[in-house]
Order: sequence, then C-alpha cells, then structure tokens
Amino acid sequence: MASVCKIVTRQLSTSVGRQGPVKYLTVIGSGLMGSGIAQVAAATGHNVTLVDQTDDILNKSMGNMKKSLERVAKKKYADNPKDGEEFISGVMGRISTNTDSSKAVEKADLVIEAIVENLGVKKQLFSALDKAAPQHTIFTSNTSSIPITDIAASTQRRDRFGGLHYFNPVPMMKLLEVVRTSETNDETFNTLMEFGKAMGKVTVPCKDTAGFIVNRLLVPYMLEAVRLVERGDAAPRDIDVAMKLGAGYPMGPFELSDYVGLDTMKFILDGWHERDPDHPLFKPSALLNKLVGEGKLGMKTGEGFYKHKK
Ligand SMILES: NC(=O)c1ccc[n+]([C@@H]2O[C@H](COP(=O)([O-])OP(=O)(O)OC[C@H]3O[C@@H](n4cnc5c(N)ncnc54)[C@H](O)[C@@H]3O)[C@@H](O)[C@H]2O)c1
Repeated sequence: MASVCKIVTRQLSTSVGRQGPVKYLTVIGSGLMGSGIAQVAAATGHNVTLVDQTDDILNKSMGNMKKSLERVAKKKYADNPKDGEEFISGVMGRISTNTDSSKAVEKADLVIEAIVENLGVKKQLFSALDKAAPQHTIFTSNTSSIPITDIAASTQRRDRFGGLHYFNPVPMMKLLEVVRTSETNDETFNTLMEFGKAMGKVTVPCKDTAGFIVNRLLVPYMLEAVRLVERGDAAPRDIDVAMKLGAGYPMGPFELSDYVGLDTMKFILDGWHERDPDHPLFKPSALLNKLVGEGKLGMKTGEGFYKHKK
C-alpha cells in the first residue's frame, strides 16, 4: 500500500553504489512497485531481470522507468546533459526483461516478487521458482498484507525466504521494511538488510505480523478517522485540518486515504479481519464499504472522501 504522507523530505536514490552480496536480482511483476524496485536497484549498480506476463507490459514499464530517470537526470545533471544521458543509458542497460519467470531466476542471487496481491497466485509462482532457482537464491515478497510465512510455505527454502516491503513511489521513499519470519535464517536476514542499504534505503527489521510496522499503525489510524465520521463526531475536512495542524501530520487521514485508494484500504482491512475477526481495530467499516461499492476509490477514480480533478 502506498504510505506517502507528503513528498517533502524525499531524496532520490540515483547513484551507483555498492552491490553487496546480491549481484543478480530478479524482480517479478513490473507494475507500480516492481518497476520502481527495478529502477532503483539498477541505479545502485545491480543487474536486474524484470519479469511480467507479456512483452507489452514490460515495454510499457521500461518506458515509464526511462521517463522517471529522465526527470532525475534533468535535475541531477542540469549543467551537463551528456552525463545525464550516460546515467540513463547506464541504468537502463543494467535492466533486462523476460516473460518466463523460471528462466529469469536461473542466475538470481535474490528474487523480489511484486505481482498481484493474491496468496494463491503468489504460492503458485514461488512453487515453480523454487524448482528453477539455484540453492543459494533468496526469495522475498513485497506483499503489503499477506503473511510472508504463508507464501514461503509453497517452497522448500523457508529459511531463505523473507519480506522486502517497499513504499510507493519506490525511487522517492527511503524506507524499506525487512521482514523476518520465524524460519528466516541469519544469513538471509543479514543479506536482505545489506541489500536494502546497498539500494540506498533505510532498513528497519520487523517480524512477520499483520501490516508489519507502517501499515499496522497507519491503516487502523485511517479507519479510526472513518469511524469518527460514521458516528457523526466530526467531518472529514475538519479531521484532516485537525491532524495537520494539531498533530503536525503532512496530510490528513482522508487526504491520505484518497491517495492510497479506498479499495486498497478495504482489501487490507478485510484480510486482517478474516484472520483475526475479534480484533476491534480490524472490524469492517460500513462507510468504507459503501464508497468502494459505489466505485469511489479516491484519486484514481476522481472521487473518494473528496472530489478530485482527474
Ligand atoms: N501499490 C502500493 O502502494 C504497494 C506498496 C507496497 C507493496 N505493494 C505490494 O506490491 C505488490 C504489487 O503491487 P503493485 O501496486 O505494483 O501492483 P500492480 O498491479 O501495479 O502490478 C502487478 C504486476 O504484476 C504482474 N503480474 C501478475 N501476475 C503475474 C505473474 N504470475 N507473473 C508475472 N507478473 C505478474 C501484472 O501484470 C502487473 O504488471 C502487491 O503484493 C502489493 O500488495 C504495493
């Protein structure tokens, strides 16, 4: 889930850095998150193979990455456009694409999965990858809401399996949650922490619990704001003003909900509620369900708690 509060103190991860023990990285899923992860990994000197279902999707992702790098280069190499072009071609040159995920992991030191948020689909993918990847290859998922332990159960390498939870947009957001299950071994965990730092991220370790750190705090907070409105205690705009001016938050909970997507919030909440039905903070919200049912998903549909210009 996107957990952007405001793009204020962001730094771009653009420089070529130390590779660490991970030289060959395979990123599976070239959507919003996968393409961001691939871009930053390549910009920090890693050789990346990016996988998706079709060449069309991959070509589109490569085009988006190039545009993103052009924006970076325009700022970073404002006085020297030639160096900017070299920077872009260097990064793009470290990314290759493949539609065959089993072939794409044959040389991989690390696999990062960023495909659709569905346990069955993720398990099917990892079960096939487990047979194709070398013994030493570490597997990770970027899932926002599914327990890493459940995904890892589809493989014979549960000790070499962890979570790498990035934040959207990946080139801008500094944080990386490194998730350790009860079976992840020390070497794997240390490699993942080192890899995150080599990518220019600030890494925080966390256990394999619902929402890890950021979403575990953020989603219930946003839902509590929705419940205030459901009870008629306050209006969305007033709550947003209150949290910005009273708590110093860069965005209010309703602005943030519209940015993240109400469908994403509902999806995360429903998953937690299913696993822990008695938890009061994970109870479904009638207002959230109504808005999602009406297709009011936030900024992406032009309306959520607020109306947005498309
Ligand atoms: N969007 C966010 O803000 C965010 C933040 C953190 C984590 N995540 C997690 O990251 C993952 C990806 O999210 P996203 O927003 O990038 O999704 P997305 O829909 O933008 O991209 C998913 C991509 O995976 C591809 N795909 C689906 N099944 C595949 C398969 N079997 N093999 C290869 N490619 C396949 C799709 O074609 C698509 O291009 C999800 O698990 C999500 O929970 C998302």
